[in-house]
Amino acid sequence: EFRRVLFRSGAGDDSVDGASGNDTAKAVELLCAGELVALPTETVYGLGADAANPLAVAKIFAAKGRPADHPLIVHLAEATAADQWAQLVPPFARDLMRAFWPGPLTLILKKQAWVPSTVTGGQDTVGLRVPGHPVALELLRRFATAVGGPAGIAAPSANRFGRISPTTAAHVAEELGERVPLILDGGACAVGIESTIIDCSRGLPVVLRPGHVLPQHLEAVLGMRPEIETAQGAPRVSGSLDAHYAPMTPMRLVSADRLLDFLNAQRHRGGQCAVISHSQLPQAGMPHVWRMLPADPEAYAQQLYAALREMDHAGADIIVVETLPAATSELC
Ligand code: TXA
Ligand code: MG
Repeated sequence: EFRRVLFRSGAGDDSVDGASGNDTAKAVELLCAGELVALPTETVYGLGADAANPLAVAKIFAAKGRPADHPLIVHLAEATAADQWAQLVPPFARDLMRAFWPGPLTLILKKQAWVPSTVTGGQDTVGLRVPGHPVALELLRRFATAVGGPAGIAAPSANRFGRISPTTAAHVAEELGERVPLILDGGACAVGIESTIIDCSRGLPVVLRPGHVLPQHLEAVLGMRPEIETAQGAPRVSGSLDAHYAPMTPMRLVSADRLLDFLNAQRHRGGQCAVISHSQLPQAGMPHVWRMLPADPEAYAQQLYAALREMDHAGADIIVVETLPAATSELC
């Protein structure tokens, strides 16, 4: 059974989580003026712009330093809005929307003719998602009211191209600083890794990017196990580039049984390691920065990007990551 991610409830009268109602109002103003706004989602923070405004969307690519042929996900306030953006929505895609939206699942569908090609990277499909975060939903609803017509926020992860995705507002500030006029703070992301992406434009569902929603969750809804596309040749999703989500410090995956030997060898060479482990406890006498993550796959995933970011700042020569708990390698 797919576990829906629960979020902290709203803090006060006109505030949801960290972002106040006034912040969301300001965010709507900026979006309507063709400016960028960083917003929290349950997966990672997004760098948002009015998806119907190609000039605004172009600012996303400029701020991230991202190649213009990479398509963006359009975030919607509710599933009923999907038909304004997509055509030929197959029944299995509707089933997925009903089961997982709002939530960490993105559906690729044949786009409506009007949808700007800046958003879709020139493809004839569009990625759609209703995010499961109260601040994002509040923003999307207010934006929809302000716009009147089809209202979607195009948003990739709010990191510079090729870098670790942000899971707190502070991470966004670190990545983009002055390049984004407003960052809505919705706390630490509950999922912590990107949404699962399903291509629904080819007749049968195909998983393009693994994420929090697992093949077995999909199978429970679809009645069949979806095919999983392995990246060959040109990447269809940016997460499949080798250098994607990379820290600046070199990184090595090392299995639990080889970890201590590896660290000892590094020490003899005078190399400083920053270690991320989930089963091996920190070793006394090793001059290493050591971060333990939970062994539970969902908790591990939720903390992974923050840990990588922290280790990237530790001044080590190498980041050593204990190989992942079995189920997590399916997630990440
Ligand atoms: O969890 C998420 O999905 C986060 C939050 C902000 O929603 N967003 C995110 O966006 O991860 P981004 O741009 O970092 O990754 C979006 C992925 C890219 O790999 C892109 O290639 C793929 O979605 N994508 C978007 N539209 C597509 C399309 N029409 N066809 C194929 N892939 C598409
Ligand atoms: Mg990204």
